[in-house]
Amino acid sequence: MKVRKAIIPAAGLGTRFLPATKAVPKEMIPLLDKPAIQYIVEEAVASGIEEILIITGRGKEAIENHFDISYELEDTLEKKEQKELLQIIQPLSHMANIYFVRQRMPKGLGHAVGCAKDFVGDEPFAVLLGDDLFHCSEKPCIKQLIEQYEKHEASVFALLNVAREHVDKYGVISGHKVDEGLYNIDDLVEKPSIAEAPSNLAVMGRYVFTPKIFEMIEMTPPEKGGEIQLTDAMKKLTAFEKMYGYIFNGKRYDTGYLLGYLEAVVDFALRREDIKDDFFALLKEKL
Ligand code: G1P
Repeated sequence: MKVRKAIIPAAGLGTRFLPATKAVPKEMIPLLDKPAIQYIVEEAVASGIEEILIITGRGKEAIENHFDISYELEDTLEKKEQKELLQIIQPLSHMANIYFVRQRMPKGLGHAVGCAKDFVGDEPFAVLLGDDLFHCSEKPCIKQLIEQYEKHEASVFALLNVAREHVDKYGVISGHKVDEGLYNIDDLVEKPSIAEAPSNLAVMGRYVFTPKIFEMIEMTPPEKGGEIQLTDAMKKLTAFEKMYGYIFNGKRYDTGYLLGYLEAVVDFALRREDIKDDFFALLKEKL
């Protein structure tokens, strides 16, 4: 079955980026001149996704406004004949069918994905986490996973080999290699201690799931802090269906912390045709 739908969880409080995220959703923090969430929506659309559900929460209205028609702005730009600016903002409201639902309580990533059950129905679907941005020169990361899903008809998520000292920031797998870059998952642990991590292969924020994951989420009890972990529901799913992890081709940026964000800004600026030469000269001067 074709993967047509995607979920973008965007209900998190963004505490790692305070004070910027006190009044502005972290997903709206710009990377160059685009809010982070626009890169995520563009990746989904470029991968053939037609319908997107963004899971929001209180204080996230700016995300809805960003993907809506801004009548006053468009009317003003039209009257002033500012066609170039119109070309930047008009496509935003037509990129895909974008819907919104609120996660009313901060009950974790698993619960946030669970909020999409009615929207998804009985189809496979993609999940894209906003803090993880990817640069993949051949194919978007989620497209690579969709292709793996189509080949194996089983849930699949992005994997990255990380340094041992970083395994405690991620979901970590144990599994066996079945093909180039492809691992059949035996077990998953969310944020293990460095000593206990079963491998250095960490889950990155791109997933394609069969709809069976919703039953697993419903069966997953919250942790001590009241959060339902997506990783725990994924672990349950391995008892019923095959699940794969795939080492994607490309570079991943963790924009959820300051240095990762800065690395993304520098790399994205150095790749952008209109500014890359001037920016390179500026960096050289600074260094
Ligand atoms: C989430 C997931 C984790 C995954 C990570 C990827 O964690 O729970 O399994 O490895 O995203 O970025 P978070 O970064 O939201 O704490």
